[in-house]
Amino acid sequence: MSNHAIQVENLSKAYRIGLKEEIPDTFMGAATGWLKAPLRNLRRLRRLNTFAENAGQNGDAKDQLPEKNGNSCEPASDTIWALRDVSFEVQPGEVVGIIGRNGAGKSTLLKILSRITDPTSGRAVINGRVSSLLEVGTGFHPELTGRENIYMNGTILGMTKREIDRKFDEIVDFSGVEKFLDTPTKRYSSGMTVRLAFSVAAHLEPEILIIDEVLAVGDQEFQNKCLGKMNEVAHSGRTVLFVSHNMAAVEGLCMKAIHLSGGQLSHIGETHDVIAGYLQHGLTIASEIDLSDHPRRVRGMQSVLKSVSISLGDGSSVNQIPLGSDIRFDVVVDPPRPIRYARLAIRLFNSVGLRVTTCHNEYQHPEPIAIAGKTTLRCIMRNCRLAPGAYTVNLQFDDHRVALDKIDSCAGLEIIPTDIYGTSRVLPTHAAIVFPEVEWSVRAGGMGERLAASFKAC
Ligand SMILES: Nc1ncnc2c1ncn2[C@@H]1O[C@H](COP(=O)(O)OP(=O)(O)OP(=O)(O)O)[C@@H](O)[C@H]1O
Ligand SMILES: [Mg+2]
Repeated sequence: MSNHAIQVENLSKAYRIGLKEEIPDTFMGAATGWLKAPLRNLRRLRRLNTFAENAGQNGDAKDQLPEKNGNSCEPASDTIWALRDVSFEVQPGEVVGIIGRNGAGKSTLLKILSRITDPTSGRAVINGRVSSLLEVGTGFHPELTGRENIYMNGTILGMTKREIDRKFDEIVDFSGVEKFLDTPTKRYSSGMTVRLAFSVAAHLEPEILIIDEVLAVGDQEFQNKCLGKMNEVAHSGRTVLFVSHNMAAVEGLCMKAIHLSGGQLSHIGETHDVIAGYLQHGLTIASEIDLSDHPRRVRGMQSVLKSVSISLGDGSSVNQIPLGSDIRFDVVVDPPRPIRYARLAIRLFNSVGLRVTTCHNEYQHPEPIAIAGKTTLRCIMRNCRLAPGAYTVNLQFDDHRVALDKIDSCAGLEIIPTDIYGTSRVLPTHAAIVFPEVEWSVRAGGMGERLAASFKAC
């Protein structure tokens, strides 16, 4: 038997999506469709029966595909691979973040690990009692009261009534729903449900805690409380799997992270590196990027931003920018009409999604910029002291106070360490957001008035 808390081997999960509604565009099409319908339905019924047989005891057998020759299930137009050939291991006591874009397969993975759904192929071995908080309300029976649900969840986890009694007050205190303890949970708001569900999952001493996106629900105060509690659970030696879109939370909590992309494992490793890779994923670094038809253009914006090039101050194109360099942004815009007050914002976000700086012509170029037709706006950021790491760039173009175009994460750049202080020391990458120019002086004694003056003089 392995010593891993979780061992995932070649895990795949295929779902059948609702078959597309075929809307015939001619009367003949409709008529033939109607004649063929019984045959089609019979085929579907046969296929469903095969799925159910192959899916064994699984609850959502209808959604599953049978395993044929290992992972080589035939791709069908109504099949979606939510997970594909994912393998990794988690050691007891590890706190692992799972990140990825919407639809990457994160929740599917957690559902398989929590035994809510079966994989199509591959396997997941879990050593330890699992408590999971997947979606608002999962694990709660809506007709039972909050109190009854606490006991039911504890019992499922294998705890005795006395053990649950001991934890009861703590759970209720944390959740803040004591006034509604004897109300059926179907009457709870989604915020109240998630409060109680999180509290139950985190306090019932599971060996493995699986949390999906709990921070998306609830106010800031509750989110901070959850993070604090998860930190406590993590430090008590439990294994935690945590899915979130909040990179700062993942970075703060997890020692290791997994990046899923299109159902596949893209990267597993040290959290900071995995997050940086995720934010850079699909971004073009330091070259001319066509923005005319960009997928991350904010909804409702016009295509005014046409391209962006990122290079060193002298225009040389590089993939990595040494710390302390000048960085040049050449942004081509083509507004549909002449603009009297063109305003361009270039915003840089670091690997945890924090906006570290904004270069804006209004802040740094006092005269209004008037443009007509295709124009290149150049901004040179001198002596860039941003900490080494990966950054994403957002652009926004306004006509005076009206936003005409905005694109999120339209480019990426990477700053690499250099001996910026001339001390031949490797700068600790995670220690700072900026490395400014600094002066140090040293004097013996405390900070009396005379000494303060002598510091000024030096
Ligand atoms: N029951 C289902 N039936 C059909 N397709 C499903 C089902 N559940 C998930 N999917 C599909 O599987 C893919 C992975 O979904 P999943 O919910 O795991 O993504 P996710 O990474 O959790 O996304 P998000 O960040 O939006 O929560 C998606 O394309 C989704 O539409
Ligand atoms: Mg999800």
